[in-house]
Amino acid sequence: MKDSRIRNAALRSKIVSAEEAAAMIERDTAVGMSGFTGSGYPKAVPLALASRMDAENARGNPFRLRVWTGASTGPELDGALAQANGVEFRLPYNSDPICREKINRGQMEYLDMHLSQVAPMAWQGFLGPLDTAVVEVTAIREDGSLVPSTSIGNNKTWLDRADKVILEVNRWQNPALEGMHDIYYGTALPPNRVPIPIVKSDDRIGDTCFRCDPDKIVAIVETDIPDRNASFTPPDENARGIAQHLLEFLKHEVKKGRLPENLLPLQSGVGNIANAVLSGLIDSPFENLTAYTEVIQDGMLDLLDSGRLRFASGTAFSLSPEAATSVNERLDDYRGRLLLRPQEISNHPEVIRRLGCISMNGLIEADMYGNVNSTHIMGSRIQNGIGGSGDFARNAFLSIFMTPSIAKGGNISAIVPHVSHVDHITQDVQIIVTEQGLADLRGLSPKQRAKVIIENCAHPFFKPLLADYFERAQRNSFGLQSPMILKEALSWHERFVETGSMRP
Ligand code: COA
Repeated sequence: MKDSRIRNAALRSKIVSAEEAAAMIERDTAVGMSGFTGSGYPKAVPLALASRMDAENARGNPFRLRVWTGASTGPELDGALAQANGVEFRLPYNSDPICREKINRGQMEYLDMHLSQVAPMAWQGFLGPLDTAVVEVTAIREDGSLVPSTSIGNNKTWLDRADKVILEVNRWQNPALEGMHDIYYGTALPPNRVPIPIVKSDDRIGDTCFRCDPDKIVAIVETDIPDRNASFTPPDENARGIAQHLLEFLKHEVKKGRLPENLLPLQSGVGNIANAVLSGLIDSPFENLTAYTEVIQDGMLDLLDSGRLRFASGTAFSLSPEAATSVNERLDDYRGRLLLRPQEISNHPEVIRRLGCISMNGLIEADMYGNVNSTHIMGSRIQNGIGGSGDFARNAFLSIFMTPSIAKGGNISAIVPHVSHVDHITQDVQIIVTEQGLADLRGLSPKQRAKVIIENCAHPFFKPLLADYFERAQRNSFGLQSPMILKEALSWHERFVETGSMRP
């Protein structure tokens, strides 16, 4: 393989095979991997690590690691290491099905954190020492600085904190990525924190490359493996309905003078629904839009391509395989219109509050008072994780959550008497949208919220059941601020676990 991507002569001497690099990682240590939603994650070293884990398992000498990332990664990392039973502990977000299964079987410890808090938590030392960083980069410059690839995530922190660094230089990544990143080196812990000087989505406040002490770099592996994300499901009737309600609402807010004509910086969450809603904005009257978000999905690119969106700032691409290939081929077209930042900055509460983001995230279930569960099925099985939804929801100008009103063929209502797990308290939830309608909860008390959520958002099958519960709760509750029948509040979930359906 040619070495033109490694432009620093001294570092070229550190090129090794993925197997040799994997052999440098010690058992029972913490490894900080690059990667965020199937973008910019190391691909060759984790696969070699998984082979090593398999071999050690066969010898009866399990080899396990604590794995820290930016968020979810790809199957060559999360999937392969989990399959080899090599992950003892994982943080901070996961969407890999094999990992999910291991976590839910109690075979892997999982720490689900607000994504903006991972780097500060690492600096405070609560996560323990970081032995190795394994980071994918696009190139190494003459001065030894590192050109990031398709995600930034926590890479800066892993490179700074780790005792030793292994780099994967990926020739599949387009060299035009150089210059499309903004790596801020001004964060600190209290009492030395200073304001993050971003006042517009497109402000640049940092370097285009990572700095890294060359003495810490123990190995460099060259690869040419594509990023790999799951595909999005095409927008269905539900997604189109949600997008339509949201569009009407945004137009109404503009008409009322509560939002400017080009709205405020958009944040759009992970998942199929969020992606579909963004695509729906193409048919809106809004122009000159901006985004200050976490992931840049297919829908965000469609908006950029349509000319409606002027600029998007995020921490990672999160693209379907088709979109990833297409963006990789014509990356230069996006120069000046896309910027990737560390996740502690893309998700920084101070910046989100200052810019006044319009935050749009998916949910698993919401209760009639507006509490939202984004993470757990039936209260105990993790789906993915909270990701950045908490960073944005609490601090956004408009905090919107959206979901189809039913799941699993109508056996589950997404609107329930009481959520089985709480990620976002009612105070952080302003708008709930389903294909049935939109509930604007601003300025409403719990009982007022319940009426609007049941009326506007619940599926017609579950609406009378919710209305009946609410009516009886107002007669039988211990208190009347947020009426609740304790014995019934989670009975729908109980019924699902016992019978496979929430339907009576
Ligand atoms: N009960 C049980 N399962 C449910 C459910 C419910 N109330 N609601 C959804 N699901 C299941 C779906 O059936 C689907 O399962 P499948 O994969 O087996 O088909 C899965 O959850 C995903 O649901 P889907 O309707 O496809 O929605 P999505 O892709 O938009 O994802 C979340 C929704 C909540 C899982 C996703 O948005 C998420 O992980 N959010 C948390 C992180 C976040 O918001 N990050 C954004 C920060 S920038």
